Amino acid sequence: MTSKRASQGARHVAIIMDGNGRWARKRHLPRALGHKRGVEAVRKVVRAAGDMGLEALTLYAFSTENWRRPEDEISALMGLMKAFILADLDEFAEAGVRLKIIGDYRKFSPDVVELIEGALKRTATNTGTTLVVALNYGSQDEIARAAANAAAKGAVTVESIEAELDTAGLPPLDLLIRTSGEVRLSNFLLWQAAYAEMLFLDTLWPDFTPEHLQAALDDFAKRERRYGGR
Ligand code: FPP
Repeated sequence: MTSKRASQGARHVAIIMDGNGRWARKRHLPRALGHKRGVEAVRKVVRAAGDMGLEALTLYAFSTENWRRPEDEISALMGLMKAFILADLDEFAEAGVRLKIIGDYRKFSPDVVELIEGALKRTATNTGTTLVVALNYGSQDEIARAAANAAAKGAVTVESIEAELDTAGLPPLDLLIRTSGEVRLSNFLLWQAAYAEMLFLDTLWPDFTPEHLQAALDDFAKRERRYGGR
């Protein structure tokens, strides 16, 4: 992921989809409904990412810290993920989307794991946009595992660690977007964000549209990236 590019267009965008709870609270609705509307935003953005020619779109869907949420909220999120795979996999698979998971999704319940593995298998040879979903993902844990694997194989270098990250093989991260006005990374893609551009939007995730993504890509194309040089 260290390759330095001069070209203008973003290849890999990652999004911290924040603000579902606040979106619901503002409307006096249950949090689960905020997540449901969040999935609708996911659906539209994944479609748009394909149309916009993105090579990879990485979405932070469930962090290692999210296990601390109330059980009914976790189960609502799991239900939404299952529903997403059941309802949308056909469309995305046919559009050439390849699914990739980062993080340890095997900690989820067996029915969710089974659906995820079916979706991974079904889309493995697709060559369109790679939809990377971070599930039970934490960046510090990812880096620690990668460093341990690199050490077990030989020299510990930037390159050898990078080759062991969950994101190995993906294009370098160009742009990281966080919605909802929070300005922090929350243990997401810490290594990969080394040279990424950052965009923090006040928009709550359920209100995020393909137009926001297009504007972010347009903005990215105008930024001058120097990678520490001048
Ligand atoms: C942050 O909002 C959002 C999450 C913790 C979950 C994001 C997950 C989805 C949008 C569903 C993902 C599903 C698929 C199919 C990829 P928050 O609850 O922290 O909001 P708040 O900060 O306003 O309370």
